[in-house]
Amino acid sequence: MFPRRLTSPSSEQSDPDAPVRATDNDAALARLSASQKKYFSDPYISALVPRAHLQKPRPPLINVGTYLRGTAVDELVDSWIERAGVHGRVQIVSLGAGSDTRFWRLAAGPRAEKIEKYIELDFPEVTSRKAMAVRKSKVLSPALGPADSVSVGDGGTSLRSAVYNLLPVDLRKTPGTSIAPLLATESGALLSPNLPTLLLFECVLAYMTPAASDALIRWFADYTQSGSSPLGSIVYEMFGLGDSFGRVMLNNLKERNVSLPGVGPYPNIASLPERFRRLNFTEAHALTLKDIRRDHVDADELERLSTLELLDEVEELDLVLGHYAITWGALVPESISADRKDWASWVLAPKTRERPEEE
Ligand SMILES: C[S@@+](CC[C@H](N)C(=O)[O-])C[C@H]1O[C@@H](n2cnc3c(N)ncnc32)[C@H](O)[C@@H]1O
Repeated sequence: MFPRRLTSPSSEQSDPDAPVRATDNDAALARLSASQKKYFSDPYISALVPRAHLQKPRPPLINVGTYLRGTAVDELVDSWIERAGVHGRVQIVSLGAGSDTRFWRLAAGPRAEKIEKYIELDFPEVTSRKAMAVRKSKVLSPALGPADSVSVGDGGTSLRSAVYNLLPVDLRKTPGTSIAPLLATESGALLSPNLPTLLLFECVLAYMTPAASDALIRWFADYTQSGSSPLGSIVYEMFGLGDSFGRVMLNNLKERNVSLPGVGPYPNIASLPERFRRLNFTEAHALTLKDIRRDHVDADELERLSTLELLDEVEELDLVLGHYAITWGALVPESISADRKDWASWVLAPKTRERPEEE
């Protein structure tokens, strides 16, 4: 959850975005660690982490946070596909996808047939590394389809296949001139305005100004509304960094040349859904990871987690988990207003706190 130094000082001087790109290594190592410690199963992540078998596990607190974020976002994505895909297929766009493995996990799961397109966007340095790893990996490449239907282009920075598409872009640039041309292919538009679309922003908007992230969400909203199809969006991010915990975190990041221009407008949990309400989303919700651990993890599952590693700093855990949140929203066009009420129940299910009595 905390970016560590993963670039050399000289590369940071010549390229101010290098420290932000390096946060992907940190996210991937956290996922690898939580998977190796059996918080969840991710058979794909080790193919995306160089020398995965030599990597040290992350501390229990980080593993718990990675588990909570990962499983909660998975649940929201699954229930979004169920709702949005009730009449047909859907498309998912992961922005700042880094080394995320969600496409492969979905492709191996029961909702694979529902996905028309899965598009990942990131800086070209990140997409070229991932494109190469995906092509080389016997674990990752089969999900893309036959080898002759997969192409690598744009100097090795893009990878295109029937469903999965990995594309290079700086998300801070004006979407109409950066993302729009990437989505226009010779055989037609990669993204259809007529299909339900889900945007995933996991640990990325904090690195952009609020104006740039608003422009990004607004561009996708205008695009999907032109076809009258619902748009879903899930954001995972830190927030409320005005307290002493936040100040320490911001200072640590500053030492690593990482700044978080995107967290300013979000001092507390109530402010998070405002992002979507301001952009005219019909539904908007937010939960901290602390809320999720308390109210949305089954008693049996909490017990299983407690056997994985000793977690003695519960107060520290709550402090950290209370500064990370998942915010999600749906924009449902007026023309399909009959569907609007269905989206109000796109929430994380509350979990059973006690095991039922044995009969
Ligand atoms: C902390 S990592 C998160 C990766 C992945 N979403 C996850 O949760 O595991 C942040 C990612 O956002 C990408 N990113 C940040 N700012 C970006 C920008 N302006 N344009 C493209 N990608 C960006 C970084 O390169 C990095 O891969």
